[in-house]
Amino acid sequence: MLQARRMEHLPPYLFAQIDRKIEEKRKAGVDVISLGIGDPVEPTPPHIVQQLCKAAEDPKNHRYPSYYGLSRLRKAIASWYQKRFGVRLDSDKEILPLIGSKEGIAHISIALVDSGEYALVPDPGYPVYSTGTILAGGTPHLMPLLRENDFLPDLGKISVNTARKAKIMFLNYPNNPTGAIASKEFLADSIKFAQEYDTAVCYDNPYSELTFDGYVAPSFLEVAGGKEAGVEFHSLSKTYNMAGWRIGWVAGNSAIIDVLGKVKTNIDSGIFNAIQYAGAAALCGPQNCVEQMCSIYQKRRDLVVSALAEAGIEAIKPKATIYVWALVPAGYSSSEFAAYILERAGVVVSPGNAYGPSGEGYIRISLSVKDERLKEALERIKSTL
Ligand SMILES: Cc1ncc(COP(=O)(O)O)c(C=O)c1O
Repeated sequence: MLQARRMEHLPPYLFAQIDRKIEEKRKAGVDVISLGIGDPVEPTPPHIVQQLCKAAEDPKNHRYPSYYGLSRLRKAIASWYQKRFGVRLDSDKEILPLIGSKEGIAHISIALVDSGEYALVPDPGYPVYSTGTILAGGTPHLMPLLRENDFLPDLGKISVNTARKAKIMFLNYPNNPTGAIASKEFLADSIKFAQEYDTAVCYDNPYSELTFDGYVAPSFLEVAGGKEAGVEFHSLSKTYNMAGWRIGWVAGNSAIIDVLGKVKTNIDSGIFNAIQYAGAAALCGPQNCVEQMCSIYQKRRDLVVSALAEAGIEAIKPKATIYVWALVPAGYSSSEFAAYILERAGVVVSPGNAYGPSGEGYIRISLSVKDERLKEALERIKSTL
């Protein structure tokens, strides 16, 4: 079978590969514990599930959903932004629901990047920034996130030529995979960069609510000029343990949202209405479920960081996200160490280089696993080192 040439540049999706490896090991009788994927194990809070069930019973919701999302959901998103970040959004023009934020991130390059143009992409970073750009015919230009810069890109190191060709700059804080956070000063610098080079900032913020030690994460849109400079992708997947429901949104610059909407109306037909009603219930309902998740993840973070220290592995203690970014011991590459742990301990971790070349030398450990299994995984890792 002949494949399109663009597919030759597209790497296999990391987590699909990890899934396959886990399957092989399980078939061979190994009790694999996966710390590889950021897929919340706790259930979606009951009031959200109840809203889904109620809405699913209404035949009105069995028809095609609206392309631009239910007004009820867009208004819920707008009022959540107002309450949470003090950001005012026009729910008709500045918000577009997505079939999970991954869907919008994958399509935004089709909307904004032409062949021969760049998307600035964090390295390491969520793989879809690069792959979406490649599928659109654009070129990802990597921005290294280095420990000495607190895992922030050095915008001053981007050449003028590159910056002029960059239609998009993807940023993601709290960051996957490093767990790093960004100050509002950094966000202001990125807005200045965007204004100077006419680049759209695509700020990916799915972990803004999962923060620790009293840290409160900002929205890109709350910084002066943010709404003009770009858009923010957001998601219900991690905040409300709704990864399987496939619901997120993009908010901000109305011209960008309009053109992404044009792409989407030609490709998909929106989100099942019942899921949209449930999403609105999540945003408007009680938020103590989010606090509970933060405290669960914070405890797991502490467990991982201290167990790794006991095993002689240095981990960078994150203030947010559901990941711990840790250094691989001397003598191993990231892939070698991940393979070693899988072979010897039956534990899956993500090799840092899978998120980009600057991830070499690190592994990512996900906290989305039940406490007992996490403890067992850490014991197994310790005993192999
Ligand atoms: C940084 C980042 N962005 C976006 C997503 C996609 O989230 P979803 O499509 O479930 O909204 C993820 C999921 O892991 C992520 O880590």
